[in-house]
Amino acid sequence: MSLATSFVGLNLSSPVIVASGPASHDVNQITLAEENGAGASVLKTVCSEKYAHMRFWPRPRYKLLDWDKQIAGRSHSFSLYSYEQGYSGTLDDYWEFIRTCKQRANVPVIGSIFADEAKDWEMLAIKVEESGADAVELDISSPHRPGSLGFETTFIAAIKAVVNAMKIPVLVKLGSGPNVTDQAIAAEQCGASAVTLCNRIRGLDVDIESQRPILHGYYAGIGGPWTKYYTMMHIAEASKVISIPISATGGTMTGEDVIKYILVGAQTVQILSVILVNGWETIMKMNEELQQYMNIKGIASLEEVRGEATRRLTKPEEIIRWSGEPIEGARNVWRK
Ligand SMILES: Cc1cc2nc3c(=O)[nH]c(=O)nc-3n(C[C@H](O)[C@H](O)[C@H](O)COP(=O)(O)O)c2cc1C
Repeated sequence: MSLATSFVGLNLSSPVIVASGPASHDVNQITLAEENGAGASVLKTVCSEKYAHMRFWPRPRYKLLDWDKQIAGRSHSFSLYSYEQGYSGTLDDYWEFIRTCKQRANVPVIGSIFADEAKDWEMLAIKVEESGADAVELDISSPHRPGSLGFETTFIAAIKAVVNAMKIPVLVKLGSGPNVTDQAIAAEQCGASAVTLCNRIRGLDVDIESQRPILHGYYAGIGGPWTKYYTMMHIAEASKVISIPISATGGTMTGEDVIKYILVGAQTVQILSVILVNGWETIMKMNEELQQYMNIKGIASLEEVRGEATRRLTKPEEIIRWSGEPIEGARNVWRK
């Protein structure tokens, strides 16, 4: 029974990867991730010079929402609201960061970039490759990206330019929404090695006392355990029509969630919020839970079950329908 996973030609000891963000912003974290059993780390995204202002963050930049809210005495999820944009150093710092990570880490290190014009995406990607990264992820779906950057108008050209210039694998990180599957197909057609589904979305929270938007006073990235449900659906849909691998990201809290993502078709699972709220040991615990599941089910390799739940999706016209049945566990609102 082995958690070993092959992903875009990289050999990972576990399908669990640290996602781009504040848990992959310095080299000690890359070591901690490895020591705790992460299969790889995607480094914090670096922005092109045009977006140098994104290297500075407001303080505070995070808020945990609904952390303390309960329904019927039981905790119900949370949301992480945050406004942390790019890597906080210069471009030269980032290239040095990659080089140092590669000297210290035994697991693959994936660079992450953000720009607007194709030539800038290409320049950043080339530098990521030259600095020794094992792959590059294009953060084309950041919740902080300017609204003027469209998928067809900006990102298709960026993906093509980067893919043409690279020898290392290119991952394209997509957002959620009605076009995810089409965008995944387009990324594959442009030559991407994998897609990462799905980035956080842009949201807003308001303080009713001051009657103002909270924290820095503007929109923020929002996510939480609840995002895994729509992300699983997007992965199920995309996996039916693309043949490049999918890296899942969004709302993973436990080994059980990792298994669910694999069952809908993901090759790897990128995690972040759970590390911020529960610590690095979470990765080890997830690996143990994965191993236990494989032992109980008699699975030698995750490949045996990848996509199994998607293959078992019932067709809408074959769903067995009944009427008037109360919903299990919910208050019966339609009958006395
Ligand atoms: C504080 C914070 C900063 C993030 N920064 C980046 C980033 O720089 N680049 C990126 O591609 N994704 C970024 N993300 C998104 C994560 O990589 C990840 O895809 C997302 O949080 C979903 O996973 P999770 O629910 O396990 O956190 C960030 C997320 C958070 C919470």
